[in-house]
Amino acid sequence: MSAHSDSTHRGGHRDGSGDRQGHGHRHGHSHGGGHGNHRTDIDWEVMATQLETNGELQLPALRQVAARLRELLGPEHEVRRVLDIGSGPGVMTGVLAEAFEQAEAVAVDGAPGLLDRALARAERLGLGGRVTVRHAELPDGLDDGLGAADLIWSSRAVHHLGDQQGALNALAGALRPGGLLAVAEGGLPMRYLPREIGIGRPGLQARLDSVQEYWFEAMRAELPDSTTVVEDWPAMLGRAGLSPVGGFTTLLDLPAPLGGPARGYLHAHLTRLRESMGEVLDDEDRKTLDVLIDPAAPEGILHRPDAFLLSATTVFTGVRPA
Ligand SMILES: C[S@@+](CC[C@H](N)C(=O)[O-])C[C@H]1O[C@@H](n2cnc3c(N)ncnc32)[C@H](O)[C@@H]1O
Repeated sequence: MSAHSDSTHRGGHRDGSGDRQGHGHRHGHSHGGGHGNHRTDIDWEVMATQLETNGELQLPALRQVAARLRELLGPEHEVRRVLDIGSGPGVMTGVLAEAFEQAEAVAVDGAPGLLDRALARAERLGLGGRVTVRHAELPDGLDDGLGAADLIWSSRAVHHLGDQQGALNALAGALRPGGLLAVAEGGLPMRYLPREIGIGRPGLQARLDSVQEYWFEAMRAELPDSTTVVEDWPAMLGRAGLSPVGGFTTLLDLPAPLGGPARGYLHAHLTRLRESMGEVLDDEDRKTLDVLIDPAAPEGILHRPDAFLLSATTVFTGVRPA
């Protein structure tokens, strides 16, 4: 499947979200000073605007994903309850409420400020009556009566839980017979600049990918009950008792010249990388990153004509046998 879609960081989409200036809500695990020179603590509420902008950039793809999930459920399956696990500001929660008109859509997250955003967003979209929120600290919240659902969606959240297989098992267990679990957990790293950008050494993005991989490993190692598992998502969904399992990929393809929201998103992304991982880059790459995030620099990401946004997100799916 190809369409406009998301991307940030994980899988392809590493969150790269360590944050040193935030004073908002941290949950699940507190990493304190981070690991080595990396900071692996994440303040999700500080990232609220960035998460919502990213979701909005992806809206066309998210709508296509919702249509694909509808197909996978089959026309006979009456969808009455949808859960969005690790919903963040609830962009996909709203899309799911629009796509499944008979359903209650529940945004589940550990960050209350993001759930407030999800509710405000649903009100703005006229979905207020059908979108609800539930504050839950995962994984404990998974065993805590989330209630049965026909569709469970989770994007870039399971990888923040120590025992990913355990989380999938719990989510699969909450499905009604014939229900569908869909996790967006793979894809390709985002690309947004040519290889040669006229400043610094060519190949900066590949080196940033590498730093983010180290960051991601440190982040996972510090999670409570951190367990290593081969991240073969279809096999993991199968072990959770789901069948059939499968996957599909969406593409985000915003060509240059980028509009303001996409530039703002990239600026926030690079600023976060600079703050959380800048110390492990060499001097030249750090300087290049400083120019890219400088709002006044003509070569900065906010102004340069060659910036684009390209990434792929894979959604893995599994059905609870009837
Ligand atoms: C990378 S964001 C993804 C947000 C949204 N699903 C998306 O794809 O844009 C991860 C989300 O998971 C939530 N989260 C991470 N760890 C959590 C935990 N242990 N318990 C509850 N929520 C958690 C965060 O608050 C955040 O909203």
